[in-house]
Amino acid sequence: MPVTIGVLRESAPQETRVSLVPEVAAKFAALGARVLIERGAGAAAQFPDVLYKQVDWADGAGAVLAAADILLTVQPLALAQIGALKAGTVVVGYAQAHAKHAEVKALRDGRITHFAMEFVPRISRAQSMDALSSQAAIAGYKAVLIAADNLQKFMPMLTTAAGTIRPSHVLVIGAGVAGLQAIATARRLGAVVEAYDVRSATKEQVKSLGAKFVDVGVSAEGTGGYARELTAEEKAKQQEVLDARIAAADAVITTASVPGRPAPKIVSRAAVERMRAGSVVVDIAAEQGGNCELTRAGETVTHGAVKVIGAVNLAAQLAYNASEMYARNLYNLLSPALKGGELKIDWDDEVFAQSCLTHDGAVKHEGTRKQLADSE
Ligand code: NAI
Repeated sequence: MPVTIGVLRESAPQETRVSLVPEVAAKFAALGARVLIERGAGAAAQFPDVLYKQVDWADGAGAVLAAADILLTVQPLALAQIGALKAGTVVVGYAQAHAKHAEVKALRDGRITHFAMEFVPRISRAQSMDALSSQAAIAGYKAVLIAADNLQKFMPMLTTAAGTIRPSHVLVIGAGVAGLQAIATARRLGAVVEAYDVRSATKEQVKSLGAKFVDVGVSAEGTGGYARELTAEEKAKQQEVLDARIAAADAVITTASVPGRPAPKIVSRAAVERMRAGSVVVDIAAEQGGNCELTRAGETVTHGAVKVIGAVNLAAQLAYNASEMYARNLYNLLSPALKGGELKIDWDDEVFAQSCLTHDGAVKHEGTRKQLADSE
């Protein structure tokens, strides 16, 4: 019997992405799997049902949940959905394990095997499976478009019969995957771009995209390529230099985060008050608490004459490409384990071992296991 790969119509508010696009559905079918999709699953991402070939259809989520051997998801499953899965089902998608303790326990107790996309290790071999990166790049791109749309200014310099228009100044804070894409996008629009990151390794990357690196004289290289938290003294030094650059910017795009911790507060209320009228802050760390003191997730706060936009789930605003990239990430992760239409997971493969949240009645991810123990 070939495995059944189930795909749901995402039910979380504002989630427009779909976990499987037609191109990737056909690739799974070519590996011998049966693909079972809830009708309308791709509609919000502009993948109407007619585009999916060689798949079976279900009229509701219930039939997919009951039949799936492998369930592909974008957003974490709700408790009722987890309860409808059969023991041994393999779920692949985001889990938000740090926040969804009840759901993790339900996965464990229901003997569900869950691979969490946010735990896929960031090793070279797994880059094609890295959903954090594919979706962060979209967020960085979209954040700049939102900034441009909210400015009463051009981004590029223009020489016109009505005189010369000066280019906008964009400051990008945090030059990880999202930040680098934000820099590239703002440069393509013709803005003058500056960027800052605590990791000095980003300096060359920032420069190679045609932006100026803001040097605050503090380096915060952490482990695994991520940033560490700064000391109070380092923060003060960083702040002084950054505040001046924030005041000079028309648009500030903030993307800074530290894994497992609330987003660092980098743009203070006072710094926003020094910005020119009509300037804008787009904070894509809003869901982790925000990099700006005034950020409210999912809202636009107007402070004086400056807008602070608490952007959430930007990838869902570019659902077509976001779904394409996400589905390919899922395929690249799963396809090595699909042989002759059957799923055979190699537990010695660090990608599977490290991204496994729950399996066989146990929480396998160490960090989550500790968090659960602390909260019990
Ligand atoms: P992230 O989303 O965790 O953080 C975004 C950026 O914010 C990071 O560059 C971080 O250094 C910066 N940041 C943190 N605190 C800050 C502060 N106080 N002030 C200014 N900036 C601050 O990072 P992301 O984008 O997920 O990537 C993190 C690292 O992982 C990068 O080194 C990246 O190159 C690496 N990576 C490796 C991959 C692979 O080898 N497969 C794939 C993707 C990323």
